[in-house]
Amino acid sequence: MTLRVGVIGTGGMGREHIANLSVLDGVEVAVVADIVEKSAASAAASCGASASTDPAALAVDATLDAVVIASPDDTHAALAITAIQSGKYVLCEKPLASTAEDAGRVVDAERAAGRDLVQVGFMRQYDPSHLQLDAAMSGLGALRHLRCVHRNTNHQWERPLELVFSQSLIHDVHTARWLSASEFTSVVAQVVSGPRPVEHVALLGAMENGSTVTIEFVEATYGYDVEVEATCEHGVAVAAQPPQPLIRSDGVQHRHIGDDWFGRFAEAYRKEVEDWVAGILDDRVNGPTAADGLAAQRVVDAAIRSASSGRREAV
Ligand code: NAI
Repeated sequence: MTLRVGVIGTGGMGREHIANLSVLDGVEVAVVADIVEKSAASAAASCGASASTDPAALAVDATLDAVVIASPDDTHAALAITAIQSGKYVLCEKPLASTAEDAGRVVDAERAAGRDLVQVGFMRQYDPSHLQLDAAMSGLGALRHLRCVHRNTNHQWERPLELVFSQSLIHDVHTARWLSASEFTSVVAQVVSGPRPVEHVALLGAMENGSTVTIEFVEATYGYDVEVEATCEHGVAVAAQPPQPLIRSDGVQHRHIGDDWFGRFAEAYRKEVEDWVAGILDDRVNGPTAADGLAAQRVVDAAIRSASSGRREAV
């Protein structure tokens, strides 16, 4: 059987998923849709798919088994609900929705369908260094504290804090929920502005299992750099940086960091779609679910409230 997949949104992430799906046995990227005709056409040509400028029609296309949603954040919830109602499996890029309310509507649609159909694109859960950290933590006793540092290459964007939280910090929120196997109960977040509305965010979260989480986010310009460190009862584990050759040249030695998520998480994006497809063939969702997407969005919403109230906010 060939799994026929449609891809909505043919920008950076849509094309990453198209490339990774196209090399899988038994998978055909059959239709791609984007509101920009030229973009849909060139992405379609890259994989032999047909092109469409009607994303909602793709979501109900009865010839497709599954849909990837990689269009802008505020389109996710409505497209996911349409795809669920037409019985399709969905890989929805993060965030599941722009607000917890809309994320809740996606979860409700799944409940009405009677089964999980949506996987959310929290791909760090597939990153080898995050998986190694998870395994290392299991030998170190109870988690006390998790520290996530997210330095985002940003030479040009001026994002309001709501977008920084729902687009970027939400990855670290999912990492914390996944690695701690626990839920945030409250958060306090502080935002430092500079030339941009958000230069730096410091978030402190309390978890149901008694551990704490700090998320430090910085709009940096030197490279895309993600770190995670777990302090446990019997020791500390730090996620390894991806293997890179040590280069000595011109009187200095260095290792390449890279300046975007495509390089840093290339393997994670590959494993993510592989596991999504494997799940569909077993008639289930293997990866992060819509419920995970909703839980992460609730933390983000509480953090946004805290950034403006200056107080600790319950999740
Ligand atoms: P992008 O701007 O490169 O591409 C978005 C594409 O969607 C564009 O081709 C645009 O023409 C198209 N589009 C706009 N409105 C549309 C609509 N109503 N229906 C269909 N297509 C529409 O953006 P990028 O970076 O590819 O982001 C796409 C999604 O992926 C976003 O939700 C973003 O938050 C998420 N993302 C996830 C990452 C991850 O690490 N998992 C990394 C980067 C983005």
